[in-house]
Amino acid sequence: MGNKSGSAEIVIFYFSGTGNTWWVSNEMVRQFEKLGRPARAFSIETLSVNEATELIQDSDIVGFGYPIHGSDLPVPMKTFIEELPVVSGKKAFVFCTQWLWSGDGAAVAGTLLHDKGFNVQWGEHFLMPNNVTVSIISLPYTNDPDRLTGVLGRAAKRAALFAREIDAGRVSLRGFNQVSFYLGSLQRVPFRRVFHRFQNDIGIDYDNCIDCGECVRLCPVDNFYYEEKVIKTRGNCIICLRCYNFCPVAAITHMGRPHLHGRGEPYKGPVKDFDPSVLIK
Ligand SMILES: Cc1cc2nc3c(=O)[nH]c(=O)nc-3n(C[C@H](O)[C@H](O)[C@H](O)COP(=O)(O)O)c2cc1C
Repeated sequence: MGNKSGSAEIVIFYFSGTGNTWWVSNEMVRQFEKLGRPARAFSIETLSVNEATELIQDSDIVGFGYPIHGSDLPVPMKTFIEELPVVSGKKAFVFCTQWLWSGDGAAVAGTLLHDKGFNVQWGEHFLMPNNVTVSIISLPYTNDPDRLTGVLGRAAKRAALFAREIDAGRVSLRGFNQVSFYLGSLQRVPFRRVFHRFQNDIGIDYDNCIDCGECVRLCPVDNFYYEEKVIKTRGNCIICLRCYNFCPVAAITHMGRPHLHGRGEPYKGPVKDFDPSVLIK
């Protein structure tokens, strides 16, 4: 959502692997607009650092959203924040989307943003559908529109409350405390330690691959490439699962295992016909 020209009072930068954070970001925009606050949301994959910098300069409040990966923020969001110039006390809010729990999910980026000179006054966690559909852990997930509607309804209520706190200027920082930090670290520290081992886990089931190139096109970190007309991986996966979930024939493997087709299609995003192309340039 949002074109890059013109200014909005509130600008949201988000990274979304499979659509949940895209949905919450757009819901936040909707809630701000209901309160009469012009707002726009941008996938960070569609912006250069210069464009993001200009958007920050032109706005009053800046938001950052991302999915939780092991109580941590995904690499593209971390890199995006690191590349931003230092600002002087610009008001900011942070939110994460998660299936169940993260401890201090919003505070993780909050600390990085604080170091960049942002005045982070609001943090929130949104419970969204699980997007981890790989065979090895077989976590429950759904593409059932009725069940998704229930989850989205609750997230929309939380977005309305969060937007109201921001609009009213009331500081509200979920998870920004020592206990949450300690609990989040219990998951984040081991996750960070083994993260590099996961980066080569994604592969291709060549027997089923139809060579449509969607994985190459959609990957946020260019993990896929063509070598002599064959799709290969570089081993720099960030485990967002976009390729795995949106391959049209579910021919992406994880740790050598294909998707368990008996479980139905992998997670296809929070709304029917969600198109992950909206997340990329
Ligand atoms: C590698 C990975 C790790 C995850 N870790 C957690 C977690 O620690 N806690 C949690 O509640 N959800 C976790 N999730 C679920 C996602 O955070 C959740 O589904 C999120 O809303 C996905 O957002 P997206 O569609 O914008 O990528 C994880 C997902 C992935 C892919």
